[in-house]
Amino acid sequence: MTESVRDDITIFRFPDYIQHKNLLHWVNEMVVLTQPDQVYWCDGSDAEYDRLCAQMVVAGTLKKLNAAKRPNSYLAWSDPSDVARVEDSTFICADTKEEAGPTNHWVDPTQMRGQLKILFDGCMRGRTLYVVPFSMGPLGSPNAHIGVELTDSPYVVVNMKLMTRMGRAVYDVLGERGDFVPCMHSVGKPLTLGELDVPWPCNEKKIIAHFPRTREIWSFGSGYGGNALLGKKCFALRIASNIGRDQGWLAEHMLVLSVISPDNKKYHVAAAFPSACGKTNFAMLIPPKGFEGWCVRTIGDDIAWIHLGKDGRLYAINPEAGYFGVAPGTNQQTNPNCMASIQRDAIFTNVALTDDDDVWWEGMTLSPPDHLLDWQGRDWTPEDAGANGVCAAHPNARFTVAVQNNPAHDPAWDCAQGVAIDAFVFGGRRSTTVPLVTEARNWEEGVYMAATMGSETTAAAMGVEGVVRQDPFAMLPFLGYNMSDYFQHWLDIGKQSARTCEAVGSAMPKIFCVNWFRKNTAGKFVWPGYGDNMRVLKWILQRVEGVAQGTEHFLGTSPRYADLDWVNLAFKKEDFHSAMAIDKAAWHEELNLHRVFFTQLAYHLPEELVATHTVLTQRLAS
Ligand code: GTP
Ligand code: SPV
Ligand code: MN
Repeated sequence: MTESVRDDITIFRFPDYIQHKNLLHWVNEMVVLTQPDQVYWCDGSDAEYDRLCAQMVVAGTLKKLNAAKRPNSYLAWSDPSDVARVEDSTFICADTKEEAGPTNHWVDPTQMRGQLKILFDGCMRGRTLYVVPFSMGPLGSPNAHIGVELTDSPYVVVNMKLMTRMGRAVYDVLGERGDFVPCMHSVGKPLTLGELDVPWPCNEKKIIAHFPRTREIWSFGSGYGGNALLGKKCFALRIASNIGRDQGWLAEHMLVLSVISPDNKKYHVAAAFPSACGKTNFAMLIPPKGFEGWCVRTIGDDIAWIHLGKDGRLYAINPEAGYFGVAPGTNQQTNPNCMASIQRDAIFTNVALTDDDDVWWEGMTLSPPDHLLDWQGRDWTPEDAGANGVCAAHPNARFTVAVQNNPAHDPAWDCAQGVAIDAFVFGGRRSTTVPLVTEARNWEEGVYMAATMGSETTAAAMGVEGVVRQDPFAMLPFLGYNMSDYFQHWLDIGKQSARTCEAVGSAMPKIFCVNWFRKNTAGKFVWPGYGDNMRVLKWILQRVEGVAQGTEHFLGTSPRYADLDWVNLAFKKEDFHSAMAIDKAAWHEELNLHRVFFTQLAYHLPEELVATHTVLTQRLAS
């Protein structure tokens, strides 16, 4: 340990192995600003993880689960006001409003800095400031980027350990002057002398601020998920999308999976679905009976960083090292790989607690246990669900677990140059209108489909649920710059890819649009989903191979009933029709919504998209 960073200030000790003066200066400055009682430098070791978890058990933040049923696992219940991302309090503080664009909340950076300075002044009094070094992407990979999160939440530290490559080795990569993204986080609840802490400290006032030019993140007032684990949405999507635009690559809200076919060919698919719309489930898919020769593996379940390769193909890495997944709806039938992943070494947040200290959530078992403590610690019985409609687990309850726990993780998940994508899939949650699967005619029309994608809102963000909103590329809450410039970026990368692919004879990825969530008149999902999504995935890969048939319509190409593999599934032709049908009137209305949306995005909106809208409108009419 060495004392002092600058000659003029001697306020804390830092480990000798840190050689990065600017990093030390920044930490020093933040310590002066936030005034914690202590500074703790995380090394990322298992011993540190165990120690912090044990401390949080004593503090009441975590409950240790039944070690016989769920080894090495914990449960956290958050403050009832701090349960999801806060999109209304998330800001992109670009230099101008136009750079942030009409889909982001913008505040002038100088004004925001002033506000943050007041909020962070003394905000860590009575607490420990943890220094959390992490790499998004394989340590030392040319495609990886480093961040350092300063936080007063030990819950954030242990989650960051599971979600990222976190620990001492990061400083070796950083050296004396490596780049890192400073990620400042506080729960915003300083303690006065002798004041008793609460299990989940947070602040009514929440601000999640991003400074794209200086590549900084400041997060205040929340300890939950994407608000607080700053490597995830704040860095790997909002800041990384800015870095990617400048450097010519893509940061996407996508799962990445690999498929090995019966003839032993390996494919990779990247799919963008909005929050709580099926990425984790698709990434861990187990093919149904009858698909024995097919093997699906997980590369990533939430975020992909995608670079153009020398051969013109697009290569994806998973910048994360763990999953922060939706618990409700997950069970042995819908997602056995996920259930196996969280069998041990997991942190659960806002699920219910059983009488024998295990976890439960809606949809985990056919019938609920007779008694539970719900996510707010209140007694809960099945009558509460029936009579009062009270959920035992919060709808946005989550688990955190490291990639290695997933029995289906692909060894290539950690590969530094990434995996070559054969197909991009875009999908929203739509009870009507959007067919089960459609292949875009070409890159431009694929970009159009992704750009105009609508989806019903979910519990992953605060606000009303179930309202259709435009969620382009599933990136509406996560893009760190102007949406129209982003569309252009996708078109540009497509052009570059096409040029090189043609020159060297490789194949560009195809683009598809899916919808697992169409409902029938009784309000039930028409499509069985989950493992049966393999039937659609198989068709997609056979289209990539050029061997599957389909029927062309105004939007693109979709399979006919006979074009999908129905082995071991009694799926009626009329159900297929309800999953697939294109209602002309509904699409007329849909295209109107696209037009209105494009009006909002008029500044820098690529010509190609407007032209595609015109063509689609004409095709629909004829
Ligand atoms: P984020 O982590 O918020 O980005 O979400 P995600 O896209 O990874 O969503 P996830 O796979 O966790 O699914 C969210 C919810 O949708 C869960 O309750 C799932 O059970 C449900 N779900 C996932 N796939 C399907 C499907 O194919 N059909 C139906 N009906 N529901 C699904
Ligand atoms: C999402 O909302 O898309 C998530 C969960 O993946 S969170 O990390 O909380 O943003
Ligand atoms: Mn997500």
